[in-house]
Amino acid sequence: MIYLDNAATTLKKPPQTAQAVWEAMQSLGNSARGAHEGSLNAARTVYAAREKLAALFHCPRADHVVFACNATEALNIAIHGLIDPGDHVISTDWEHNSVLRPLYRLEAEKGVRLSFVPADRQGRIDCGDFERLLRPDTKAIVCTHASNLTGDLMDIERVGAIARAHGVLLIVDAAQTAGTRPLDMQRIGADVLCFTGHKGLMGPQGTGGLCLREGLPIRPFKVGGTGVQTYSPAQPAQLPARLEAGTLNGHGIAGLAASVDFLEATGLETIREREAMLTRRFYEGVEALPGVTVYGDFTRDRAAIVSLNIGDWDSAAAADALFERYGIAVRAGAHCAPRMHEALGTREQGAIRFSFSWYTEAEEIDAAVRAVGELAEEAGAAL
Ligand code: ALA
Repeated sequence: MIYLDNAATTLKKPPQTAQAVWEAMQSLGNSARGAHEGSLNAARTVYAAREKLAALFHCPRADHVVFACNATEALNIAIHGLIDPGDHVISTDWEHNSVLRPLYRLEAEKGVRLSFVPADRQGRIDCGDFERLLRPDTKAIVCTHASNLTGDLMDIERVGAIARAHGVLLIVDAAQTAGTRPLDMQRIGADVLCFTGHKGLMGPQGTGGLCLREGLPIRPFKVGGTGVQTYSPAQPAQLPARLEAGTLNGHGIAGLAASVDFLEATGLETIREREAMLTRRFYEGVEALPGVTVYGDFTRDRAAIVSLNIGDWDSAAAADALFERYGIAVRAGAHCAPRMHEALGTREQGAIRFSFSWYTEAEEIDAAVRAVGELAEEAGAAL
């Protein structure tokens, strides 16, 4: 199989990640639930992971790194924890349902008012629109760092500057960029940075979390056991316990920490450059093919994603042909990004998304380019 579905999840992981999970499964008790060796092993493993992630994302404190099971849960914690009934929130057409659905729910159930920065027919966003959509009651901007459909990058530092200038919270969805490039939440000016562990961070599925700036008045999304303040009916106020009810995924977190070690040793800038090279190689191979439409802006730095369509061929049928005939795994359809497909005019057809990782080989890119070329030729001949 040529695996080019890394925006959904990276399939190849650093060997030390699997090793760390295996070792953790034989040595970890329950973190913060005891003083015996197993529990302390877990607590040390989890705390070391918090420190590594805080360093990676420039989170001001390790105890402000909160674990969740994926970016969706992290975004729910941030959105439900910070936005009050009647608040106004600005988001964008680039968002994944992990942002949209929590916001739509707050709109329906709590009278939260929403505005969306629009994407044009090419999927482009004008960052000036964030400023234009601001209102006196705007509480937060919730936006992705990269479109999971086109791979276009948001000018997130500019968005951060707008949020800061107007005293508005900034919640960033870094699902598609964490681990693939340097990310500094303080430089961005993010109040919350949400990440998943299983994509660019190359950790296990079921890991992820959020990094918080200091002093954020965030309510717990879920409540329950924390191992501390048992007799208090209320969730403890201190972080990370405030936002981490229930047993953590210690085994997964151990693997995630090993992945972060691998990323730091390899170098995030090295990873970014390699993924950019692979993305450009694929883009240059397909962009001029007759009948192929590529989406997104390739004149600027971007995430390692290329989405396209072949004529008016249904994207799911084309993805099936790629896998059945060439063994190439991609993601087709709507990618949980409804507003972006509406903007691009691809609601019915969807799009075929190719996405790359550190472990993608140049030969795999070339094989995918040849496959798209052959399918486009056949589709053209069939018209
Ligand atoms: N959010 C993931 C994707 O974009 C699953 O495919």
